[in-house]
Amino acid sequence: MTQKRPKETTSSSGRERQEASSSRHSFVPPAREGSLLAKLIASHEIVIACGPGGVGKTTTAAALGLMASLADRGRVLVLTVDPAKRLASALGLSGVGNEEHRVPDDVLWTAGLAPRGELWVAMLDTKESWDSLVHRYAPDEKTASRILANPLYQNISGQFVQSHDYIAMERLYDIHLEGRYDLIVIDTPPSRNALDFLSAPQRMADFFSSRFLRWLVIPYRSRLLNIASRPFYQVADRVLGTQFLSDISEFFMLFQAMYEGFVQRAEAVKKLLKDDRTTFIVVSTLEPAPAREAELFVQELSRRELDLGAVVLNKVLPSYLRDPHANKIAERMRRDAPTLAAKLSLPVGYAEHADRVLTEVAESFSNFSIVAYREAAQKEGLGNYSDIIASVPFFDTDIFDLAGLARLGERLFDR
Ligand SMILES: Nc1ncnc2c1ncn2[C@@H]1O[C@H](COP(=O)(O)OP(=O)(O)OP(=O)(O)O)[C@@H](O)[C@H]1O
Ligand SMILES: [Mg+2]
Repeated sequence: MTQKRPKETTSSSGRERQEASSSRHSFVPPAREGSLLAKLIASHEIVIACGPGGVGKTTTAAALGLMASLADRGRVLVLTVDPAKRLASALGLSGVGNEEHRVPDDVLWTAGLAPRGELWVAMLDTKESWDSLVHRYAPDEKTASRILANPLYQNISGQFVQSHDYIAMERLYDIHLEGRYDLIVIDTPPSRNALDFLSAPQRMADFFSSRFLRWLVIPYRSRLLNIASRPFYQVADRVLGTQFLSDISEFFMLFQAMYEGFVQRAEAVKKLLKDDRTTFIVVSTLEPAPAREAELFVQELSRRELDLGAVVLNKVLPSYLRDPHANKIAERMRRDAPTLAAKLSLPVGYAEHADRVLTEVAESFSNFSIVAYREAAQKEGLGNYSDIIASVPFFDTDIFDLAGLARLGERLFDR
């Protein structure tokens, strides 16, 4: 089905919006006793929002962080990876790199929200994070400067496969270690495979101890003397140039000086992900492909003994689409469209249009209903994995500001 999905346009949501804009102080009340997701957030220090691409991980992470700060969870940091432009600017994140920023209370008040804790936000700047990692792990400043100046490093630090995944976990570890926040909600990168970031620290450690790397760092000259690899190098020399090959060689040699640090860190990050204070929230829509990926993800978390705190089902179709009475009405409307059109007492020649409109509306309803039933079945499947399942509807606009995040947050917290 290719139609656009219906969006939530209930009168209550319209009223909420009106109230938010008409009153500066229409406070979001604290979470209800029974809000399991709110309790989950209240009892952890690290919440990792993960799942398939494009399902709402960044939005969910930001909404959860906002809700926690409104519920006085102390200092809350939302570490986002790739917020959409409008959301980034609403959070004051435009062009700020790695720096952590507090969302000013004024801005929250203006959005109709009553801050009780502190909401901090940061974005993940891969290049900046790599540079600071090099400074930290290089044995001395001279080595650090040589790595940073190496053309190969400059190229790959921004684009290294999985460098995003790895650096996200690195930053999380760092920020947690510094202990400045009571809660860190971290968004995860849009990986080709949602599981990539879980293995990133280990893969980095493996990479540093790999035979490939050891081979690369054999000084370039001695490799030329090696009969077996000489033909390869002669060709590579011609194609890539001697400078490039020696850049590679130097880069990996220097990088290997940081081996110890990387391996230790990979271990520490792994431990932090398993810690009782850390929980994962898998976000997904109920479309078949993401739902399948989310299910694999959930199973992988369990295989790795990581804590699945909750499943968030985003952009879920409204339940009225599954109302059998409504479906019968749609069916009848389709069947009786010509009679109904005739009863509208329209000017001559309009009845045919009315017939078409009524038929298409009725068919569209039935089509969405089919999708809604399929979603409900998917939901049952995913619902088996966690005691906490939060469903969020598809809203009538993108979520690009604090009021929108609060609206999503309220649904997440089951208000
Ligand atoms: N419940 C919702 N209703 C309407 N729009 C939504 C909802 N949730 C998210 N969106 C919108 O969907 C888009 C994608 O959301 P988001 O960026 O959070 O996804 P993501 O999982 O982080 O994507 P990526 O994998 O690319 O990082 C955004 O424009 C956001 O405003
Ligand atoms: Mg995202």
